Amino acid sequence: MSSGKFQSHLGAQSVEQALASVENRLDKLHLPALEQKLGCSLDRLMRVAEAEPGAQWALRFSDQRQFLLSLAEDAARSEFGRFLLCARGLNWRTTDLLFDPAHQATLRQQERDHSLGLFDRLAFFSYPLLLATQERFHIFQQCTQPLVADGTVLASLPCGRMRDLLSLDYAHIRQEVRLVGLDKDQEALQGAQALAAEVQAQKPLRGTVEFHASDGLRPGLTEASIRRAFDLVTSNGLNIYLNDDQCVTFYRHVHEALNPRGTFITSHIVPVEEYRWDQINRDHWRLQTVMLTVLIGALWEPLVKPRALVQKQLELAGFRDVRILPDLQGIFPTFVATKPR
Ligand SMILES: C[S@@+](CC[C@H](N)C(=O)[O-])C[C@H]1O[C@@H](n2cnc3c(N)ncnc32)[C@H](O)[C@@H]1O
Repeated sequence: MSSGKFQSHLGAQSVEQALASVENRLDKLHLPALEQKLGCSLDRLMRVAEAEPGAQWALRFSDQRQFLLSLAEDAARSEFGRFLLCARGLNWRTTDLLFDPAHQATLRQQERDHSLGLFDRLAFFSYPLLLATQERFHIFQQCTQPLVADGTVLASLPCGRMRDLLSLDYAHIRQEVRLVGLDKDQEALQGAQALAAEVQAQKPLRGTVEFHASDGLRPGLTEASIRRAFDLVTSNGLNIYLNDDQCVTFYRHVHEALNPRGTFITSHIVPVEEYRWDQINRDHWRLQTVMLTVLIGALWEPLVKPRALVQKQLELAGFRDVRILPDLQGIFPTFVATKPR
């Protein structure tokens, strides 16, 4: 598959280039350092992988290198895995697969049919980070729903498909709400428009939905400049790709776009030292580390930030009363911050 399909992720490579990069990484791999990081030998991890349903069909266990390479080749057989391999991150569509009930239903059906691929099984049902991402979506929903009140203006930046706002309950609304989706990627905005139309067709929303091209790193967010426009901004999946300075810049722009007493809900992946290890399946974490860190070289990996640093960055941008809500495994906490009067 060519990288053309992934235009929305700049720098995305073709599958062939991605697999060549994996081989390159494997050539440079320092096995003792990896085994120390994993806290187990690669041979043991091969036995763990061997016990996963479908692994015998999907992987080669002839030697350590073949094993690692076959994990990457198996990822390339999944839409989600292929995108991750090629772009080393997720875009609007692949992120949404994690939250889309229809996709979950398809995977469950494949599981019953015994046609579910190994990569999808691990990614959607086992990798701790991706389980935390799915849980985080529901934590956002729980924090956001009580803020849906008459006449409120709610924004999502980057909105991707904007499932976060579109899947809330608006049945109690008497005075129209306004939902605003902001994203840099036109394809994402089209995807969001399609989901909005689908949702509206099933359950008309009391309010308006609009989408605008927007850059979170640009002052004013859009050409027209957005200031004091929103009561709530939700944000998932942008700051994890930003360095410290860019995070503060992004948070400042969100702060500027909020009304006084407005709320900002975001999340961040934290370093392993902050994980709740007693809640994490270590073998699944090991397989995830080999896949996402070693083979794919996920772009968010070097940019994880301690909870206290994220809080400090939000405060530097002007937010107060920052509440931190951890997921069960303590991997991807949610931050709820307020703009003072
Ligand atoms: C991982 S997706 C998350 C989308 C959505 N929030 C979700 O959770 O499904 C990241 C999104 O960030 C958008 N994006 C990347 N850089 C951006 C920027 N500087 N300003 C606004 N959006 C950006 C991408 O186009 C993409 O849709």
